[in-house]
Amino acid sequence: MNGRQVKWTKNTAAKSIVLFVVHFLVMVLVSLVLLLWDKVDVLAEEMNDNGADYLYMVFCLLMLTIVMYIYFFFESRHTLTSGKSIALIFTVLNVYIVVAFLLGKQGSSVSVGESTVSYGIFARPVALVALLILSLIGRKEAIFLNIFSGILMFLLDIVSARMVITQTAYTSLIITFVAGMLAIFLANRAKTRFSVVVVGVLIVIPIILIIFLLKLTDIVDVEIPTPSETFWPDMLMQMGYGVFGGVTSAILFLFILPIYEWIFNCLTAYRLREITAHDAPLLRKLQQEAPGTFNHSVMVAQLAEACAAALNENVDYARAAAYYHDVGKLHQPEYFTENQHDYNPHDELTPELSADIIRLHAQDGSELIRSHRLPQFLGDVALQHHGTLPIRYFYAKALKMTDGELNIEDFSYCGPKPTTKIAAIIMIADGSEAAVRSLPKRTPEDVERVVRGVIEERMELEQFADCNITMQDLTIIRKTLVETLSGVYHNRIKYPNIKYGRGADGSARGEV
Ligand SMILES: [Fe+2]
Ligand SMILES: [Fe+2]
Repeated sequence: MNGRQVKWTKNTAAKSIVLFVVHFLVMVLVSLVLLLWDKVDVLAEEMNDNGADYLYMVFCLLMLTIVMYIYFFFESRHTLTSGKSIALIFTVLNVYIVVAFLLGKQGSSVSVGESTVSYGIFARPVALVALLILSLIGRKEAIFLNIFSGILMFLLDIVSARMVITQTAYTSLIITFVAGMLAIFLANRAKTRFSVVVVGVLIVIPIILIIFLLKLTDIVDVEIPTPSETFWPDMLMQMGYGVFGGVTSAILFLFILPIYEWIFNCLTAYRLREITAHDAPLLRKLQQEAPGTFNHSVMVAQLAEACAAALNENVDYARAAAYYHDVGKLHQPEYFTENQHDYNPHDELTPELSADIIRLHAQDGSELIRSHRLPQFLGDVALQHHGTLPIRYFYAKALKMTDGELNIEDFSYCGPKPTTKIAAIIMIADGSEAAVRSLPKRTPEDVERVVRGVIEERMELEQFADCNITMQDLTIIRKTLVETLSGVYHNRIKYPNIKYGRGADGSARGEV
């Protein structure tokens, strides 16, 4: 959800079980309220006659919830370590149950035994759970929860139809499975909101085909050998419901997603695009008040993107993390080299005070990101991007000024060290960019030497002790950075100096 890694301990396991129990009870309550809403007056009688149906439903819901827990335990354990993710999953399911159940009651209906079944069942936003979970959590989780939500609604449909498995109920199950899965794979690369609407339109095709073929089975029904008068209008109406269901999935998704993004402070592809646009409030401020830092961040983003792509990490996360890693410098931009021109305020300060000002930008950045309600992941990277590295320049300055012992920790960043691969990438890209920029000559050999030095220094100082980065990853990062940085600096063509003037005939002429 936000790229953070929390260790699986007895405490997190117990917390996840308690949360699952609470959310399961809420889901049971929501389901019972929906099923019994119009039977409140005859509740005692209903329980007397059909209590076993409801007991069966609660038991099935319990089994489904246990299976869901087991699935996440083996396939996506990090989801269980986050109370926010668990709450998000169950609220998405509850919202879907309510919308789908209420829509399922709309439109014309047919009698099935003691109960009636409405064709509004085809108007359900069948791909809503799939699209929301895909954007808010991930594809693996979306695939599972799409199947889960289909079975869940099937269960409610048959309890609602007095335990009769109706044709519409199992058709709805198949439609949910097919449309949801297609939506997941089609929307996986959808980067704009418009492309999600296109996905909504595309999933309509299998939905109307399934409804059309289902309706055709009525023609070959032995009791109705030829289509009745209402056959074609009925079919068109049901297919219309299907179209509504597909398109509404995308529209409801676009409407609900920003609410979830805001409440759960999630990073989605859409939110990432918005917060990495150059007119995003904090970035615009950085551009105006600390242009040097802004340019450095854009450069680090280019390097981090290349490294993330090479390591198969999320490129969008890397770009966003790079853009925001130094926003803490906004508090005192003039104290950082990239924003200085002729005057350096550090000349008037003791090295201790200078180091204090410099190291604060990591904490300031993290707080600024939090106060702007930006995703926690960005705050974590801002806090971790210098780890516990010493601020070499001021440490060396202090060493020159004293004969006594100096505590290197007084001249070091406060940490923590990077806890994710992306934070480690930003740390290395940041250091390499600054070091290469200060080189007088930037030949590929010089760049290679500097990048190697940056990585080795961080390894010696154990900056990667808290993240799962491997030697192989570090080698890939080094090669990618050398390639990208050499490309950036090497391809800059030196423009010849040309003096322009006019010839005797008045035409423009140039002279080298
Ligand atoms: Fe920094
Ligand atoms: Fe930086």
